[in-house]
Amino acid sequence: MRLQDKTAIITGAARGIGLAFAEAYLREGARVVLADVTGAEAAAAALGERALGVTMNVTDQASIDAGVAAAADWGGGIDILLNNAAVFDLAPIVEITRESYDRIFSVNVAGTLFPLQAVARRMIAQGRGGKIINMASQAGRRGEALVAVYCASKAAVISLTQSAGLDLIRHGINVNGIAPGVVDTPMWDQVDALFARYEGKAPGQKKREVGQGVPYGRMGLPGDLTGAAVFLASAEAEYIVAQTLNVDGGQWMS
Ligand SMILES: NC(=O)c1ccc[n+]([C@@H]2O[C@H](COP(=O)([O-])OP(=O)(O)OC[C@H]3O[C@@H](n4cnc5c(N)ncnc54)[C@H](O)[C@@H]3O)[C@@H](O)[C@H]2O)c1
Repeated sequence: MRLQDKTAIITGAARGIGLAFAEAYLREGARVVLADVTGAEAAAAALGERALGVTMNVTDQASIDAGVAAAADWGGGIDILLNNAAVFDLAPIVEITRESYDRIFSVNVAGTLFPLQAVARRMIAQGRGGKIINMASQAGRRGEALVAVYCASKAAVISLTQSAGLDLIRHGINVNGIAPGVVDTPMWDQVDALFARYEGKAPGQKKREVGQGVPYGRMGLPGDLTGAAVFLASAEAEYIVAQTLNVDGGQWMS
């Protein structure tokens, strides 16, 4: 029960890794607000009375402000923010559209910074510190021929984690990140379909190949990430500041 009596808000929590995080935080005794642009209420309803679903679009400031206010009212303040919502797209450099770029940066970068800002303001006013965790990616550690914009967005998340971590620690707020490798979620089904189109692969082939390439021996599952997410949200992580932790089966070393 390492998160007993804490209130956490998790963006993009209706499915995939975010949903696994919500379940793990509940097991550790937290109250959890699942914030998502779609499906949040239904996902929360299945998790019991210590979970609240809030429809929140991380690209919309009014929606962020309303979601954070609802979470704080329900939970007696906010102790933990897990910035998990993100979108993916893939294209060769010469085919990238401004629409795709704007969407990815709006969700993955602005959609990390502005929930972080809204929650940090509350945490400072509450005066009891807090923990903020941003979901980066191994994609933020280096470029990839077909994945330029998503990689750049996740590099930006790692950089924001460093700057926000350095700025907010004086308020007792730890900001850190997690960089997963390849994780079997609905997002990766979309990734697989895009690689099938651009690399001429059969459906499912890219997924098998990346899984075989992981030093651990298989693709990650959402449950492989929950230990790091609980740890970074707990008092045990008090002296960890502005770091992004690779949780990727050995894919990347930094
Ligand atoms: N799956 C992987 O291989 C992998 C690898 C590295 C990093 N990540 C990161 O982990 C996190 C979770 O990924 P996932 O695979 O579970 O993705 P997913 O696509 O399965 O789930 C993402 C969730 O975010 C929500 N979302 C999208 N746009 C939103 C918006 N504007 N406002 C609020 N919510 C929004 C979606 O509705 C969805 O529920 C993301 O930050 C992703 O970049 C995933």
